[in-house]
Amino acid sequence: MTPAGLALVDPGRDAALLQQVADVTFATQPEWERAVAFLLASFDFDPGLERRIAVLDGEPVGYASCGLIWMLAPDTPYAWVELAVTEAARAQGIGSALLAWTQQRAREIGKAGVQVPCSSARPEGIAFLERRGFAEYDRMAGVELPLAGSSRPEVAMPDGVRLTSIAAEPALLDSLYAACCEIYADLPDPEPVVIGTLEEWHARDIEAAGQPLDGVLIAAAGDEVVGVSRVVVQERGRVVGHLITGVRRDWRGRGVALALKRAAIGWAIDRGAKWVSAENAVHNEPMRAINAALGFQPGADFVELRGPAV
Ligand SMILES: CC(C)(COP(=O)(O)OP(=O)(O)OC[C@H]1O[C@@H](n2cnc3c(N)ncnc32)[C@H](O)[C@@H]1OP(=O)(O)O)[C@@H](O)C(=O)NCCC(=O)NCCS
Repeated sequence: MTPAGLALVDPGRDAALLQQVADVTFATQPEWERAVAFLLASFDFDPGLERRIAVLDGEPVGYASCGLIWMLAPDTPYAWVELAVTEAARAQGIGSALLAWTQQRAREIGKAGVQVPCSSARPEGIAFLERRGFAEYDRMAGVELPLAGSSRPEVAMPDGVRLTSIAAEPALLDSLYAACCEIYADLPDPEPVVIGTLEEWHARDIEAAGQPLDGVLIAAAGDEVVGVSRVVVQERGRVVGHLITGVRRDWRGRGVALALKRAAIGWAIDRGAKWVSAENAVHNEPMRAINAALGFQPGADFVELRGPAV
């Protein structure tokens, strides 16, 4: 039963309402909070994306979104769905109402199912979905490195390789795309990751507001990008999160990824973050070994569940 006084409000492109989405996300799933500028930019690569704010007696108490899974083929039968309800407003049917809205919206955009990100730190979300016919689809092992008292680590690139960023050397963009095509193809995900055209990738992964261009850390040899590590500030400055670290096939096994990760840690220290987080595919032994060597400790798992759109 939906509580009396509940309204599901479409924030559209209204900045004040999108700020409410950001605030509820920060209160419930802080690591996935995105600035309003990013929430607006998302429409550029997913025009059919819709969001709803759960408003109870005039107060925003939850949110949901339903759109495309950016990194899978466009005809994948699942929609990307996020939802959460603030703790004080739970167990009144609001989560169920939001989930039902996402499932209906998914059908409207031609999807038979929905895929929902969860965290092992929030087992109530996983249990809620499992009770509604959802099952785990993928799991990434989270790791985190506390930065208190740390100083910037030395970054030692192999001979002939320099550390730079796309902000410092925008001319590397085409080569960065070529490197990312190779790196994304090698991600140990359950389904092939679709990077899209250069324009799509650029709009989504590089230009999207809220992702600083100096956080696209690059290892370059001459005018060739040989490795990349993308980092973003999360949790309103508390955390720097790795979005991806990868190295071109020909350059693997020479310490490029380790050097990029060290550079990312220095980037986080410079910005006053409290810790660095990353997620690794459970079987990604090389990256897990690098993170362990750098002192990362186990954190919460990123768990995706899939369920029907009915
Ligand atoms: C998962 C989440 C969205 C559920 O939100 P919610 O508003 O508590 O969801 P509901 O109230 O619809 O359902 C929760 C339980 O309360 C029960 N409930 C609903 N109305 C109730 C009422 N009036 N009185 C008592 N219990 C009630 C529901 O039956 C449900 O139990 P069930 O799962 O055994 O059926 C919320 O816990 C959350 O935000 N978690 C963190 C975010 C997260 O993990 N999101 C990803 C997964 S959805």
